[in-house]
Amino acid sequence: MKILLTGGAGFIGSNILDMYVKQGHEVIVVDNFRSGRIENIYRRLKDKHIQFIFGDILDENFISKLPTDIDVINHHAAQLEITRCIDFPQEDITSNLIGTTNMMEFAKKCPKLKLFIYASSAAVYGQAKSELQSEDDPIDPHWIYGVSKYSTELLAKIYSDQLRIPFIGLRYSIIYGIREWFGRVLTLFIKNSIIRRKIVVFGEGSEVRDYCNVEDVVRLHAILLSKELKPGSHIFNVSSSQKTTISELAHMVAKISGCRVLYEDVKEGKPSKILNDGRIRLPGNLLYLCQDNTKAWRELGWRPKIWIADGVKKEFDWYKKNLKIDRELWSKLFY
Ligand SMILES: NC(=O)c1ccc[n+]([C@@H]2O[C@H](COP(=O)([O-])OP(=O)(O)OC[C@H]3O[C@@H](n4cnc5c(N)ncnc54)[C@H](O)[C@@H]3O)[C@@H](O)[C@H]2O)c1
Repeated sequence: MKILLTGGAGFIGSNILDMYVKQGHEVIVVDNFRSGRIENIYRRLKDKHIQFIFGDILDENFISKLPTDIDVINHHAAQLEITRCIDFPQEDITSNLIGTTNMMEFAKKCPKLKLFIYASSAAVYGQAKSELQSEDDPIDPHWIYGVSKYSTELLAKIYSDQLRIPFIGLRYSIIYGIREWFGRVLTLFIKNSIIRRKIVVFGEGSEVRDYCNVEDVVRLHAILLSKELKPGSHIFNVSSSQKTTISELAHMVAKISGCRVLYEDVKEGKPSKILNDGRIRLPGNLLYLCQDNTKAWRELGWRPKIWIADGVKKEFDWYKKNLKIDRELWSKLFY
């Protein structure tokens, strides 16, 4: 198949790209490297079935020149850093809402298009109202990011009616794994366990999260290419449905690395005095996030297989081998 993959230099996108290559698909990757990294894709640069196009999905002129003989669009490009969305909320709206509109408009020009896949997020639910959030739970985003992601689902409904092909929105929980980008809780724990030999948990670390490994996500994307889905808009939670507290996560990393876990009462919006790295505790963080993945199992035959402790160990080992990619850590260790 010929697949257009946006955000293919990013964490999730580059993992999907590897699978597409293994399956022998022809892939056009579009990325502006805003948060994507050349290290994620350099092994693929000489592959003759892949075309890398440096460009911005906000640039309509650029999009109008993309090849249109595409079978599948897989849209992962987005702005998703929560700290950035607090300071520059307009960026979430432009990158995620206008960028997605541009990609859906482009879909109208592709006569062979069979499938449009896009990344939504658990952020559409906001603070949980049930123990396991299902796709039918109320939508009540907590961040502008969640608003922008829910808007993409509303757009998908309109465009799927017009194009009469399946549009698949994936409400990812917290995806982790190799190439996860730096600055997220797990990567910070791993980094601090290596540089500072200690991990600092803000407060009691009782916030609940649902961690799903990127390898499981990639397996889902392989399934999506092989399924005959009905035309229309389909939404799936993509999650482990397993609850992990931030404190439990810290202890998993501590066990692997042999370092200590400290608890610090940091006020929201303030930095840690122990770490002294200038990173603030997020204001208004979600207390609970755990999604029901039974719809994906029922309709797609997918459920995750990777147990979090195994996935964290694999990410830790990858991180240690790839220290160079994290320039902050590299400079602290070697200069
Ligand atoms: N990682 C998660 O836990 C998670 C959770 C929920 C949803 N998602 C969604 O999954 C998708 C991928 O996330 P990720 O974790 O791989 O993030 P990422 O930042 O690693 O990947 C996003 C990619 O999009 C590219 N990009 C951003 N703006 C662009 C633009 N205007 N034009 C072209 N390229 C652009 C970036 O350079 C990057 O390569 C995003 O849509 C995100 O909202 C991720």
